[in-house]
Amino acid sequence: MMDMSILIAMPNRDQQALKNELLAMDNGLDVRLWPDIGRADDIEFAVLWQHPEGLLGQLHRLRVAQSYGAGVEGILKDRDLRHNVHITRVCGSALQDSMSAYLAERIAAHNLPGRSIAETRVGLLGVGRLGLAAAQHLQSLGYQVTGWRRSAGALEGVPVMHGGEQLFALCADSDFVICLLPLTPATENMLNIHLFNHFRPDAWLINVGRGAHVVENDLIFALDNGLLRGATLDVTRVEPCPAQHPFRRHPAIESTEHTASITDPHEAAEVILSNYHNLQHSAPLLCRVDHKRGY
Ligand code: GLV
Repeated sequence: MMDMSILIAMPNRDQQALKNELLAMDNGLDVRLWPDIGRADDIEFAVLWQHPEGLLGQLHRLRVAQSYGAGVEGILKDRDLRHNVHITRVCGSALQDSMSAYLAERIAAHNLPGRSIAETRVGLLGVGRLGLAAAQHLQSLGYQVTGWRRSAGALEGVPVMHGGEQLFALCADSDFVICLLPLTPATENMLNIHLFNHFRPDAWLINVGRGAHVVENDLIFALDNGLLRGATLDVTRVEPCPAQHPFRRHPAIESTEHTASITDPHEAAEVILSNYHNLQHSAPLLCRVDHKRGY
């Protein structure tokens, strides 16, 4: 079988570092770095992160669009994405461990004095790979963790609720509400005033999903009116969060600027290389995303 080329197109990330990792694992690979894509028809595999507009339209032979992060909304929203292109993402223990450690740290930092770990209830919205790993980690530390997902389905060892009504009930019952949902049309703007109305006044929100999960004015209104105590935002609609943004000066908002969990180039390279080989051998791809569900 003829070897295919891998294109790395992530203008705001270290493309060369990823290329180096890939070549260290297999120096026979043809890895191209955007914008030097060469002959577009050689490219069947593309690693993308905030990729340039118009790029996918040029890649007529693309078969895999591999996100360089855990999220894939930047790929899914591209109008040039063809339905027969497989979407995959990075997943692995480095990403999970850093997210879990971040959440444990922010919860400890914002827990109320005198409230023990065993008394502290954490509602975790989104129990995919990162969410489940975080839930298990927080449980192992002694927190009471309940997950929430949009559709029904059990999880091993973690109580889980689902659907709209149970979402309100879970928020009403949580000292910390964590959003680790994928961004899809169904979850966009989900952290809004209707939900904040169900929060406990001393609850703390941690958003490690995407900025677009939050209706920004609703969050400010909710904080100013005592519907919740405070929020840690790792993500914002515009990143980095502009200096003039009201989130910046709000005393009840802590901003951590997308540091909760950053893709490790080595872990990413392992997933990419496995998927590259799996594609060549028509084997199942790792960390696949369903176009329709969006995660
Ligand atoms: C980061 O936000 C990611 O999706 O990996």
